[in-house]
Amino acid sequence: MNFDLKQFEGLKTPFYWYDSQLLDQTLQTVKSLADRHGYHVHYAVKANGNLEILRRVNAAGLGTDCVSGNEILQSIAAGIAPEKIAFAGVGKSDEEIRIGLENNIFCFNCESIPEIEVIDEIAGQMGRRAHIALRINPNVHASTHHYITTGLEENKFGINTWALDDVLKVLERTKNVELIGLHFHIGSQILDMQDFRNLCTRVNEIQEWFYARKIIVDHINVGGGLGVNYEQPDKQPIPTFEEYFKVFAESLKLRPKQQLHFELGRAIVAQCGSLITKVLYVKNGTNKKFAIVDAGFTELIRPALYQAVHKIENISSTEPEEKYDVVGPICESSDCFAKSIDLAGCHRGDLLAIRTAGAYGEAMASTYNLRTLVKGYFSK
Ligand code: LLP
Repeated sequence: MNFDLKQFEGLKTPFYWYDSQLLDQTLQTVKSLADRHGYHVHYAVKANGNLEILRRVNAAGLGTDCVSGNEILQSIAAGIAPEKIAFAGVGKSDEEIRIGLENNIFCFNCESIPEIEVIDEIAGQMGRRAHIALRINPNVHASTHHYITTGLEENKFGINTWALDDVLKVLERTKNVELIGLHFHIGSQILDMQDFRNLCTRVNEIQEWFYARKIIVDHINVGGGLGVNYEQPDKQPIPTFEEYFKVFAESLKLRPKQQLHFELGRAIVAQCGSLITKVLYVKNGTNKKFAIVDAGFTELIRPALYQAVHKIENISSTEPEEKYDVVGPICESSDCFAKSIDLAGCHRGDLLAIRTAGAYGEAMASTYNLRTLVKGYFSK
């Protein structure tokens, strides 16, 4: 990616920089490929809830997948039609359930029996009928960081298959909810397509179970999770959506008229975003140099939290490369973006781009140490 430093004039570092063109191209690619299969994509707002991103998501014709009442309201503010909004999350509050019902959203992805009962009760009070999908735990392993696998039985997410008989009993008496779908999600940053193939196999088995009980739902939602290339962001700026959709087209058995939904977050927004930070000081250590920058884990927590790798470039310097640890100003030793990486010679005032930061970057920012919440800007 080429950064035009002129566009950064007047912007106070650190800030997020979004490549509007790459975002729009990614959105158009995913939308047109999904349309080809007749699939529905709900952008996972949790990856980045920036209003401008959501406006572009809406312009491209995608829906959203929300995990809070505020994400639903932000989607609506960006113009997303409520009938394209799915609402997931293991701990929906009564107020958030009301927001979903008031706005007639597409579907509540339910994660437990008590949640179904509460949605039924609130919908009854409001004189509404809630459309629900059961988030079923497929117990499929995803080869990713253990903090972001979600589809195993020991995770807090979803309803385990052994509880499904009880769920069906509950659904017989909860008249204000209507079962319209089954929902699955196995984890995030998944690059091995075999994991998704395994998910399809499980979904096929689970569908058989429902079919044997004469239940065919209209919607199957297979969640998100498609990963991106953090090491070499420019190698494949737009992820392989085609290969990903093909797995489902080949391996998932949909019943006639059944609609397939996806909740992709990272794959849509990760590569278009970079965290731009300024070198404050270059300090000599015993055997290495530290580039001390003005961004910390308050702006991008992924390296500190998941040992995530983000490619870093010195976009102000053409000097020969040297080894640096790139560290932030926060008073914790985990506030480190990278250890012993090659960077063009760094000086005070240089700008570094921390790449592939569009997903779970700005969205996970905090004001720890009373720092100012980071802002995002878009290229023209
Ligand atoms: N659907 C559900 C039910 C989810 O839990 C998630 C992500 C998604 C969809 C979107 O997944 P994606 O397509 O973005 O992989 N903060 C972590 C990632 C947490 C993912 C949480 N769930 C990170 O920075 O890697």
